[in-house]
Amino acid sequence: MKNIYLPQLGKIKRVQKETSDVKTFTLAPLRGAGFTFFLKEKIKFIPGQFLEISVFGTGEAPFSISSSPTQKDLQISIKDVGSVTSALHNLRKGQVIGLRGPFGNGFPIKDIRGYDILFVGGGIGLAPLRSLINYILDKRKNFERIIILYGAKNPEELVFKDELKGWERRKDVELLVTVDEGDGKWKRNVGVVTTLFEKIKVNPKKAFAFVCGPPVMIPFVIEGLVKIGLKDERIFANLERYMKCGVGKCGHCNIGPKYTCLDGPVFSYKEIKGLSKEF
Ligand SMILES: Cc1cc2nc3c(=O)[nH]c(=O)nc-3n(C[C@H](O)[C@H](O)[C@H](O)COP(=O)(O)OP(=O)(O)OC[C@H]3O[C@@H](n4cnc5c(N)ncnc54)[C@H](O)[C@@H]3O)c2cc1C
Ligand code: FES
Repeated sequence: MKNIYLPQLGKIKRVQKETSDVKTFTLAPLRGAGFTFFLKEKIKFIPGQFLEISVFGTGEAPFSISSSPTQKDLQISIKDVGSVTSALHNLRKGQVIGLRGPFGNGFPIKDIRGYDILFVGGGIGLAPLRSLINYILDKRKNFERIIILYGAKNPEELVFKDELKGWERRKDVELLVTVDEGDGKWKRNVGVVTTLFEKIKVNPKKAFAFVCGPPVMIPFVIEGLVKIGLKDERIFANLERYMKCGVGKCGHCNIGPKYTCLDGPVFSYKEIKGLSKEF
């Protein structure tokens, strides 16, 4: 019988520093270790899904896949906040980790074809959105406007800086970036991410919105999107809750009757409205 808690083995192929406390890890299968979910070196997943990553001797934690399934590399981007994340940050190229997944529902990629897509990200919350952004950019003709609103505490904390520059150079992407606090060199918007809503015009009838960021940001962004006129079923938030098993067994991750690991982590506002004081 398959043991759902048994991780498969992977190795770290590359580590890239994003900020002082965020790193992006490119993962690869460990050859000869009986991999089943890397298919021809490629794991099958939907943007928005997550992996349970284990550091042997320390523990396991969930992380969104930050790369797109249309790209060769499998990546996760991790902020160092505690024991597992700090142990991951200490790992080097070639070292072995455990992986389970992919888990969760992912973004509704089939329903959004032909629409304007608005992304609203905060801090490391850009990680799962990046997976969907790059997926959409690799299938660009299937979508209308792509608008990305991204905020961080300060310029140093912006993740994927090179990629942000690349998106900014594209004529078919509208990118607006803000920081809560600028430095001497910062010439762009200063303020929380919702202050960027005044700078864009969105046709709510044609748009879907995807939101991911710190829990405190999400209700404010949803409120702003509702004011713009987006229907509840067109607003999706990627929610983080404490998770253990990742597969609907332990009950750690529920919001009311919903399990974040099974029913989420991507929820429409229609689904979560009224389930928690936060929404
Ligand atoms: C579906 C999902 C996707 C995620 N994707 C990413 C990602 O792409 N990148 C990333 O950096 N992080 C992501 N996280 C958060 C990540 O799982 C936590 O940062 C990690 O579990 C912390 O483990 P730790 O052992 O390092 O921290 P601990 O030592 O366990 O705790 C350190 C601190 O972090 C807090 N904390 C721990 N886990 C969570 C949590 N799930 N939510 C809120 N606070 C928490 C604790 O209260 C404590 O204050 C995701 C979480 C979920 C549920
Ligand atoms: S993490 Fe165990 S039920 Fe969701």
